[in-house]
Amino acid sequence: MQDVCIFVDFFVILRRKTIKTMRIGVFDSGYGGLTVLEKIRLRLPEYDYIYLGDNARAPYGTRSYELIYNYTWQAVRYLFQQGCALVILACNTASAKALRTIQQNDLPALREEGQIINALGVIRPTAEVVSRMTTTGHIGVLATPGTVQSGSYPIEFQHQNPKLCITQQACPLWVPLIEAGEHTGDGADYFVRQYIDALLAQDEQIDTIVLGCTHYPLLMPKIQEALHGRNIRVVAQGDLVAASLDDYLHRHGEINGILTRGGTCRFFTTESAARFRESANIFLRRTISVQHIDLP
Ligand code: DGL
Repeated sequence: MQDVCIFVDFFVILRRKTIKTMRIGVFDSGYGGLTVLEKIRLRLPEYDYIYLGDNARAPYGTRSYELIYNYTWQAVRYLFQQGCALVILACNTASAKALRTIQQNDLPALREEGQIINALGVIRPTAEVVSRMTTTGHIGVLATPGTVQSGSYPIEFQHQNPKLCITQQACPLWVPLIEAGEHTGDGADYFVRQYIDALLAQDEQIDTIVLGCTHYPLLMPKIQEALHGRNIRVVAQGDLVAASLDDYLHRHGEINGILTRGGTCRFFTTESAARFRESANIFLRRTISVQHIDLP
């Protein structure tokens, strides 16, 4: 009997060693994607995750198409190499500028080698849900200059409902404020008010505002303040993206079936691990262990 138990234990250890952890990767230029990761892990806690922040090269929002694509593809490829079968671009700028090329040019080549992989963005799931929230049909989008200039939000909203009226406002100073940890200070009020006023001056009928950048939920209290009690709904993306991922996994057994369920999460940054750990504390309200990596 004892011999059988030893054999079973040995078999379990061997199996644990040979089963590779297949994770869901969550990528952002910096810390913003942590607002999405948190909601995803709340909804789908059983999966294994890797978060990668390209903090050393953030912000992406003011960079050229070529750079954003190159940086994003380096990060996505790295996450696949680390055993991710699915990567969520928890960055609107990367979703707007790089996702289509990655999906159309880069992934097919890897799939031909037999890899079961995919990469998903955050703009379409957001537009799908928010298009049904508005009563006036007038929606405001606050985003980085790169996302605004790509026109991705107006395009996705028009697909949902061609009658929607979409007004965009670029907020180039918000991501640098947040990455520098200055978003709770008094100085941030001025910059928040500036962009909110500029958005509403373009269209007074807006009843729903999308925070089209995953960093912006950190400014939510200041954004609400700047709205001065106006009856406008402000939507952050985390819950929408988590629900959309849940739905995707239900519909894609080929990927869902190979993802492991250990409930773990690893954090990588291209910046200093100590700095990421400190700042991530603000987003996650807990201490995490972080590893520095270099891309590509
Ligand atoms: N969180 C990213 C986004 O959603 C920020 C982009 C940036 O680095 O400028 O767009």
